[in-house]
Amino acid sequence: MDRWRRSKLVLIFAKILGVIFPLKNKTRLGYFFISIAIGHLVVYLAAKDVLVSWLYHDDYLNITDMEDFETKLPIFQDYLYRSYVPYSIFNSLYPNETNADSKTLSVSQHLYENLNQEHDPRLIVSLWLNSLYQSLTHNNKLNSQFSLPFSWASILDLKSNFRVQYSTDLSNLDCIQFLGFAQIPLVNYTRHCQSLKSSPSGYPKVKFTGPLNYYTSIEAYKLASASYLLHSAPIPDRLCLLGVGPNGNAVNIPTYRARHDNSYNKYDLKSMIYDYLLTVPNESSHEFLYKGMNIQDQVQFLKEFWSSTDIESSYIPDRLIDGDVTRIIGSTMGHSTTLQKSDFQFDAEDFVNELKNKVSKSIEILTPNSLDHRLLRSIYPFDSNSEPPKYFHEASILGTSRGAHFDWRFFQKIDYSHYETQAILHRISRAWLRFAYNVGLNTWLAHGSLLGWYWNGLNMPWDQDLDVQITMESLITLARNYNQTLVVDLTSNNRENLGIGKYLIDVGSSIHLREKGNGENIIDARFIDIETGFYVDITAIAFTRSVEKLSVKHKSSNELNQLLDPEFTNKENSNTIVKEDLYSDLYKLLTLMYKDENIFNCKNDHFYNLQDLNPLIPTLYEGVIAYVPNRYKEILKREYRKSLLNYEYGGYTFRPMLDIWVPNKICSKDRIGDRCFDKEVLLETKYTRAITSTHRKEMDTRYRSPITYTQQDEHEPLRVDPWIIKRSEKVEKFIKSSIY
Ligand SMILES: *[C@@H]1O[C@H](CO)[C@@H](O)[C@H](O)[C@H]1NC(C)=O
Ligand SMILES: *[C@@H]1O[C@H](CO)[C@@H](O)[C@H](O)[C@H]1NC(C)=O
Ligand SMILES: *[C@@H]1O[C@H](CO)[C@@H](O)[C@H](O)[C@H]1NC(C)=O
Ligand SMILES: *[C@@H]1O[C@H](CO)[C@@H](O)[C@H](O)[C@H]1NC(C)=O
Ligand SMILES: *[C@@H]1O[C@H](CO)[C@@H](O)[C@H](O)[C@H]1NC(C)=O
Repeated sequence: MDRWRRSKLVLIFAKILGVIFPLKNKTRLGYFFISIAIGHLVVYLAAKDVLVSWLYHDDYLNITDMEDFETKLPIFQDYLYRSYVPYSIFNSLYPNETNADSKTLSVSQHLYENLNQEHDPRLIVSLWLNSLYQSLTHNNKLNSQFSLPFSWASILDLKSNFRVQYSTDLSNLDCIQFLGFAQIPLVNYTRHCQSLKSSPSGYPKVKFTGPLNYYTSIEAYKLASASYLLHSAPIPDRLCLLGVGPNGNAVNIPTYRARHDNSYNKYDLKSMIYDYLLTVPNESSHEFLYKGMNIQDQVQFLKEFWSSTDIESSYIPDRLIDGDVTRIIGSTMGHSTTLQKSDFQFDAEDFVNELKNKVSKSIEILTPNSLDHRLLRSIYPFDSNSEPPKYFHEASILGTSRGAHFDWRFFQKIDYSHYETQAILHRISRAWLRFAYNVGLNTWLAHGSLLGWYWNGLNMPWDQDLDVQITMESLITLARNYNQTLVVDLTSNNRENLGIGKYLIDVGSSIHLREKGNGENIIDARFIDIETGFYVDITAIAFTRSVEKLSVKHKSSNELNQLLDPEFTNKENSNTIVKEDLYSDLYKLLTLMYKDENIFNCKNDHFYNLQDLNPLIPTLYEGVIAYVPNRYKEILKREYRKSLLNYEYGGYTFRPMLDIWVPNKICSKDRIGDRCFDKEVLLETKYTRAITSTHRKEMDTRYRSPITYTQQDEHEPLRVDPWIIKRSEKVEKFIKSSIY
């Protein structure tokens, strides 16, 4: 059970006992002691999950559930990997095909009956892969004009976000009623809500056109964001399917909105299912429905296609691509780990002028959809005098600050168990790193993620996101060629997580404005998990003129000063050093670095020079290839002071023998970790061992031999996504009920 819930329940028990016993028996000392004893017993049992397990069933997964999943897997995995075409859609396409005789249900039929209407995140991906495969075999080459239909309604289970536990009937809700439901005062009425005249059953009559910038309940927030996706959100410009191109590269495919699409009808899904059914033999359509689509088969078909054809796969560098076409993405140049000053130099005015120039010269002047056009159109006007509005919005949930860890559009819930958080961060970290590796972006781990890497090559258990930095040069590539790309990670050979994770690349509109300003746009880009709203924070570092205006005396210059003078912290605290001299020395150093164009910063007061970064060290993070700055230790010391030495943080202690962070409460006497027999800790160790032991070896040999990695060295996913674990529980339940 989730720790937070447990403590809440313990508190309730204690309160109830406190009220009943002491009040009734105020004067009788004996009863008083008995009540305390019972109180303790209850609290103890509650803490051990003996009492609450029958009082409260929760679906918060823990690592034991993953262990169960892994051990049960072989029995029914064929069923688990079936994604079903919903019968309602099949029936609307083939109204005269009646459902098969349901008197004698086979296991397959039984499962189909129970699961076909449930949202399966793998179905749409299987259909995309099938369309791509059909196009490839039909043309016997990659057709650059190939594209895929897209709608948010088909890819996410939006309708279920309109279903709430309370008795409130949401299907008639308009904007005014929404205010009541969300408990937002009329004065704060959001201009982003429009009432609709009608809506199909199960859908509220509201249309959100932007974020709900008001703190409200989880249910209200979910409704607003699902309504935004359904009615207003732009669709991604393209898909990037990692791992299904030749040699395991990625395939980039533009998207379009289907012509007959309205907000509700999922026309794209229907048309792809129709196309798919055409490729299926007619006589046994029902058999085929029960068999479902297996995403691993679809990946396999593509792999076989690439290996059986001699298509020369020419990779065109991103800067030579003018418009959106279907193409292979993969950098053949190899990965340079040595960065140049030019990767960081940036001048906003030059940048905008150059872009304008390119656009005016472009022969594609009549096709305003060229990548340069789009970029120029969507960045915030350079000459504007006002500050750009906040670009990224997070979920504003009443009574907690944790909403800030979720992109508002894809927000689902706030309470994820420890296991779930780690499993989601695991797949999102891997997907971002793989995408960056494929495109050849110069990016490396930063902040908390760099610290997590330092300890054991994994996200730390209290992390809520991944932090990476990127060169200015690579950020521009990301903005121009990949803004609004939906990335699907299909690189794994292990099918457990295949098709579940989908991530939106969103680049802020003020990436060219490199000053901190009011601090609302310090994040340059995000890589967002659309199933949950978890994200990777991407910030560029650049050499800009703004450095000239810095004051070494300002509070925010702390890291800058440590970069200029590694002894700064000691000197500042020293009584023998005259502060004015210290600052004037720092100022001289700053001037030198500035003249040398060797001082780079993000928009949030973090400073680096080329020697800090060069050469980037290739390594593994969460089991896949990543890079860290050469002087990671110095960087971490500047940012977190003693964090490299502190074995204890945020309620956790790092146990060296286990190589993981363990809650202080567990095995509290065993700080080394060689006498800890807690079941969950042992499981966690078992699953992380492959990654942490590689990391340990790497850290030991760091200065002896340079290590390089290829994708063959990567580890298979270590955690299984919550969706597939829950699906497997359902599959098991329905198989059992069909047998007995
Ligand atoms: C983990 O989940 C299993 C299965 O749901 C449950 O029996 C067990 O008590 C949970 N463990 C903890 C510590 O919550
Ligand atoms: C379906 O059946 C009805 C009645 O039997 C018939 O009128 C109709 O043409 C059929 N539709 C198709 C698509 O075969
Ligand atoms: C709500 O409206 C009042 C009055 O205009 C304003 O003072 C307040 O800041 C608003 N609150 C929020 C959260 O927008
Ligand atoms: C299925 O049947 C339809 C009409 O009955 C026909 O047009 C189509 O070609 C058939 N498909 C296959 C794969 O046999
Ligand atoms: C990225 O795309 C979004 C949506 O079209 C747009 O608002 C934003 O300004 C774009 N960012 C850049 C840097 O072009």
